[in-house]
Amino acid sequence: MRVLVAGGAGYIGSVVTAALLQGGHEVTVLDDLSTGHADAVPSGAGLVQATLHDSAPVLADVRPEAVLHFAAKSLVGESQVKPEIYWDTNVTGTLALLEAMRAVDCRRIVFSSTAATYGEPESVPIREDAPTRPTNTYGASKLAVDAMLTSYAAAHDFAAVSLRYFNVAGAAYGLGERHTTETHLIPIALQVAAGTREALTIYGEDYPTPDGTCIRDYIHVADLADAHLLALTAPAAGEHRIYNLGNGTGFSVQQVVDAVREVTGHPVPVVVGQRRAGDPAQLVASSDRIRADLGWTPKHTELPDIVRDAWETARARR
Ligand SMILES: NC(=O)c1ccc[n+]([C@@H]2O[C@H](COP(=O)([O-])OP(=O)(O)OC[C@H]3O[C@@H](n4cnc5c(N)ncnc54)[C@H](O)[C@@H]3O)[C@@H](O)[C@H]2O)c1
Repeated sequence: MRVLVAGGAGYIGSVVTAALLQGGHEVTVLDDLSTGHADAVPSGAGLVQATLHDSAPVLADVRPEAVLHFAAKSLVGESQVKPEIYWDTNVTGTLALLEAMRAVDCRRIVFSSTAATYGEPESVPIREDAPTRPTNTYGASKLAVDAMLTSYAAAHDFAAVSLRYFNVAGAAYGLGERHTTETHLIPIALQVAAGTREALTIYGEDYPTPDGTCIRDYIHVADLADAHLLALTAPAAGEHRIYNLGNGTGFSVQQVVDAVREVTGHPVPVVVGQRRAGDPAQLVASSDRIRADLGWTPKHTELPDIVRDAWETARARR
């Protein structure tokens, strides 16, 4: 299939681009390189440097049969102080992309949504029918796009899938996380292990969890890539599906720190800080729906394996 990957120079988009190429697809990446890296785009894919708002001429040129849409701003803290960036990039940027698709009669899309659309869960594991009450602008902007896709499917015959990722981690095809502003636990802990960051702060040790630290669901980026390839052809015209994507198993912050120490063989000094506002004790996905509908099964569910892949890829870059 001829596909356009918006945000394909970023962490997840570049891995999915590599998986698409391996699957025999023809790929063009559209990316403004605001947080991505041109050298992350796998050879074999074209790269057009453009923003979502300026995507119409790119789509007119590429004439894709499907779009995978990763391009977004995704820093929760920033979204609270600069909401305008999130509404502009994530919402009106996506609207421009959908209109550019309509103009070339491309109506198939897989969108990177997020667990942040749910907010504080009433129960875990979180299913797709859980209430969506985002607690930050980032989550609200992604939820708005999910609603946009529902209406584009109904009114304009789009075949759409929103994949609501939990915490994505690990590396594949030699591509890992390289965020300039890193907020994710595993890469931060690996930076501490590598000696490029002094210490890791654990935000709260008094949660109602077995070791007192927060529990999160880490999904390996290679498993996520598999889900994208399955989702690409799944919906019929007029259908918008929503799937949660997680490992199904939660790991605590302390377990992540222990795994990083074990895998790297280096010390990881920690500082215990206050709880952060809006951090639920547990966020774990139920991925039953995508398992049942698409036969998706995560293959890399052990924490040390996820950490090892991230560590080895980061080390190869140094
Ligand atoms: N990393 C995670 O754990 C996680 C979890 C849930 C959801 N997500 C979502 O997955 C997607 C990919 O995340 P990531 O971690 O790979 O982020 P990333 O920042 O590495 O990748 C995003 C890419 O989009 C590009 N981009 C941003 N704004 C753009 C614009 N206006 N026009 C064109 N390109 C633009 C960036 O340059 C970058 O290459 C995002 O939509 C994010 O919200 C990520």
